[in-house]
Amino acid sequence: MPSAEEIRDGQRAAWAGLSASWEKWDTIILDQLGPVGAAMIDRLGIAEDQQHLDIASGTGEPGLSVAKLAPRGRVVLTDLSPEMLAVAARRAKAQGTTNIETKVCSADDLPFPDATFDSVSVRFGYMFFPDLARATAEFARVLEPGGRLCASVWIRPEDNPWTTIAMQAIATAVATPPPDPDRPNMYRCAAPGFIGALYERAGLRDVDEWDVGIELVTRSPEEYWEMTADHVSLVAAALRQVDEPARQRIRAHAIEKVSAYAGDGTVRVPGVARCIVGTR
Ligand SMILES: C[S@@+](CC[C@H](N)C(=O)[O-])C[C@H]1O[C@@H](n2cnc3c(N)ncnc32)[C@H](O)[C@@H]1O
Repeated sequence: MPSAEEIRDGQRAAWAGLSASWEKWDTIILDQLGPVGAAMIDRLGIAEDQQHLDIASGTGEPGLSVAKLAPRGRVVLTDLSPEMLAVAARRAKAQGTTNIETKVCSADDLPFPDATFDSVSVRFGYMFFPDLARATAEFARVLEPGGRLCASVWIRPEDNPWTTIAMQAIATAVATPPPDPDRPNMYRCAAPGFIGALYERAGLRDVDEWDVGIELVTRSPEEYWEMTADHVSLVAAALRQVDEPARQRIRAHAIEKVSAYAGDGTVRVPGVARCIVGTR
């Protein structure tokens, strides 16, 4: 079993390498993941003076959207990766959002006193944490009594062709070992009730979960491949293991499969995420 430090070091290195791609493909990623952020924010009940903590903020969402709804409040964007948070800070500046600050830290060791925040969000971060129970206990600790936690995770691969097309193409060229439940992987939190059980163990109440559909929209099958190969952590990591000729075969395979989703000058590949809310 990998140590927590080993997992954190691996994640720091991976996201330092992915940050430029997330910035490059920002508009497409924002559109794809926007419905999940909106669904999470809806259940957090953001007030004008909300004190909000966004965990694993990456390039800033949904924290930056919360900041716009809380002009008299404050949002702290946190992430393990300084490179990802630097993109978030640039995006905040470009949008003229000033009621935010960034803090590099790991989700399982938060540098904030107890009961500091009215709400906590974690969009697509849980699957990367070394110790999921410890991280959830930290989220509960920093919440005010009555404050809400809302997270989102990816559900089954068969419901997410936007990544399975790429992963199946990779599997034609390289052996992909079954995922290790003790290491980060995209579908680690997919089982119904998985995150809800962590919330309940951390003392949260009124736990509820629901699914939200998304769509990855690109202008062509080629653009689908380029952006997926560039920024999806699982895909980018698998592609690093193969040589250029294999990469070209994988690319051709993925482009052929994703073409089934093309029409009207766009390619629209669906997916489904699960949101989980709970109250301290
Ligand atoms: C898929 S990105 C999600 C970014 C953003 N929340 C969004 O939905 O667009 C996952 C983020 O988790 C961060 N991460 C990985 N391990 C972490 C940890 N132990 N603590 C905090 N953040 C972590 C990564 O650096 C990366 O920015």
